[in-house]
Amino acid sequence: MAINWFPGHMHKARKEIKKVMPQMDLIIEVLDARIPFSSENPLVPALRGDTPLIKVLNKRDLADPEVTGQWQTWLEKERGVRAVTLTHNQRNEAMDILKLAEDMTPHHDRQKSALRVMILGIPNVGKSTLINTLAGRPAAKTGNEPAVTRAQQAIKLPHNILLYDTPGFLWPKLSPEACGYRLAITGAIRSAVLDFEDVALFEADFLLAAYPELVKARYGFEELPRDGLALMDGIATKRRFFSRGGVPDLHKVSEVLLNEFRAGTLGRISLETPAMVEREQREAEEA
Ligand code: G4P
Repeated sequence: MAINWFPGHMHKARKEIKKVMPQMDLIIEVLDARIPFSSENPLVPALRGDTPLIKVLNKRDLADPEVTGQWQTWLEKERGVRAVTLTHNQRNEAMDILKLAEDMTPHHDRQKSALRVMILGIPNVGKSTLINTLAGRPAAKTGNEPAVTRAQQAIKLPHNILLYDTPGFLWPKLSPEACGYRLAITGAIRSAVLDFEDVALFEADFLLAAYPELVKARYGFEELPRDGLALMDGIATKRRFFSRGGVPDLHKVSEVLLNEFRAGTLGRISLETPAMVEREQREAEEA
C-alpha cells in the first residue's frame, strides 16, 4: 500500500523526540482501544530505551470490553508495559494515571525536581482530550488535523508533574496493510489516503466475521449476507440507496458503515485482537 505519510513532518518529529526523550522520566502513550496495535507509533519502542511507559487504551466506551481486557493482559505480559483503559469525561480515572506514574518512578524525588512526563499518540486517539482533562483546562487543541505541528508545551500538573506534549505529530503503523485499513475505519487516517469504499468493504468483511449478531441487529438481516460486498448491497437495498439506473449507491453505504462504526451506533466493536495481530505478523515474516 503506497501511503506517503508527510515524510518531512515525520523526519522533524523523529529528530525532536529523539532529542527530548532522554530528558523524560516517564512516557504516556495514548492508543485507541479499538486498535491498540495499529494505533501505536513505531518510534516509541525504538526511542524510549528504559524510560517507564504507560499505555492508555482510550475510547474504551467504543471498544469491545472483552477484547480490551485481552489487550491489557497481552501488553503487560508480552510487552512488559503497564496498560490502563480510559474514556473521556472520567477525570478521576485520568488522575489515577498520574498516581500510577508516581508509583512507577519511586526513586524520583519530586521535592527536588518535577517529574517530567511526555504524552504521545497518533492523531485522533484522544490525546488532546486527555491533556485537557489532566490540566483541568483547555491546554491542548482537540480535533486537530494530522498535519498540524504544534510547538512543544509543558503543562504544570499537581504533585510537581510537568506534562510535555509531543513535539510535532506522530504517524501510525501502516504495515501490515490491515493496520492501514483499521486506522482508516476509526478515522485516524483521512479518507484521502485510502479509497473510501475499499475501507468500508474491509469493515463489512470484518464485521461479518467478528460481529455477525451486531450486523444482523443493526441492519435487519435475518440471514447473514455471504460476504462484505453482499452486505453492502443488502444495506443499499434495505435503505433504498440507489444511484441513477438502480445501481446500489456504495458510496452512501460506505458513509453509513463508517459513520455508524465511529459513533458506536453498531455497538462496542474492536477491530483487532492480540491473536489476530500475532497471526498477521507471523504471516508477514513468512512472506
Ligand atoms: P488527538 O489529540 O489525539 O488528535 O484527539 P482529540 O483529543 O482531538 O480527540 C479526537 C476525537 O475523539 C474528538 O472528537 C474527541 O472528542 C473524541 N474522543 C476523545 N476521547 C474519547 C473517548 O474516550 N471516547 C469517545 N467516544 N470519543 C473520544 P471530535 O472533536 O468530535 O473530533 P472528530 O470526531 O470530529 O474527529
